[in-house]
Amino acid sequence: MKETLARIRAEALAKIADTSADLEQIRIQYLGKKGELTSVLRGMGNLSAEERPVIGQLANDIRTAIEAAIQSKSAELKAKALDLKLKAEKIDVTVPGERIPLGHNHPLSIVQRELEETFIGLGFSIAEGPEVEYDYYNFQALNIPENHPARDTQDTFYITDNILLRSQTSPVQVRVMEKTKPPIRIISPGRVYRSDAVDATHSPLFHQCEGLVVDKGITMADLKGMLELFAKRMFGEQTKIRFRPHHFPFTEPSAEVDISCFVCGGKGCRFCKNEGWIEILGCGMVHPFVLSNCNIDPEVYSGFAFGVGIERVALLKYHIDDMRLLYENDTRFLDQF
Ligand code: DAH
Repeated sequence: MKETLARIRAEALAKIADTSADLEQIRIQYLGKKGELTSVLRGMGNLSAEERPVIGQLANDIRTAIEAAIQSKSAELKAKALDLKLKAEKIDVTVPGERIPLGHNHPLSIVQRELEETFIGLGFSIAEGPEVEYDYYNFQALNIPENHPARDTQDTFYITDNILLRSQTSPVQVRVMEKTKPPIRIISPGRVYRSDAVDATHSPLFHQCEGLVVDKGITMADLKGMLELFAKRMFGEQTKIRFRPHHFPFTEPSAEVDISCFVCGGKGCRFCKNEGWIEILGCGMVHPFVLSNCNIDPEVYSGFAFGVGIERVALLKYHIDDMRLLYENDTRFLDQF
């Protein structure tokens, strides 16, 4: 038995010393439940009472020796592996860094933020409405009944007969007025949809920002003063505005607003097509029907509304001559902002 034990010891230690040793495999082979050392110990029942403790002691010593050898070999292998890894991953801190391209806001987002900041500064808050909208909010409540010609110019994408992709942000006016008592002062920027073919000035998806103020005694003078402030803030202090009579079903009176050309100062140039003025938005006094539709008494309250195209402002502000550039996300274009 002693010889067997000595052989096991010598064999195991030799195997452990081998650099390519699989230590776990060796542990199982010698020390495991069905291992060689264990099976020797099982045979100890046949030994005499004197021999038993001697062999037992020897077997234990061998177990300890094998365990220690495995442990030190394992530590050695780990150290070697770490060493190799450190060598392989050596960092040369003198190598110049790789430049990581840094993104920034899209021109449409920049304009939208500017609009939001301007109006928040004037005491407005931001309201949101769904892009998938009921015909009622997009048209009917805004005084655009079925078969009204105003629907033609805003032909849009219908989901069902009475659900559609909103063609304007104006339905948010109605949603806000239904839920909030005056005084109301909101803007609502967001996506709108129309089934227009793509060209330099059209896209089936674009962005608008709606504005709405309702309170006692609101007049067109308030609208004018506020739009003047907005125009100066967005296009420069020297900017003038002018109102041209227009028609929108949900405002009365209605107007289109032009700003003085910020390139030539109003004298006329190529940018403003020699007009001196550039059309910028639609607005008006909220139609009494619209107020009534929202259970706001038009005898007590009045209000104004406006709607501005965010693309339009971005194109003007940054002198971009083709709207498609805004959606192609070509970084050579976007990098310029
Ligand atoms: N919703 C109109 C459009 O898409 C823009 C507009 C005009 C909004 C006048 C208004 C407004 O709130 O008063 O053409």
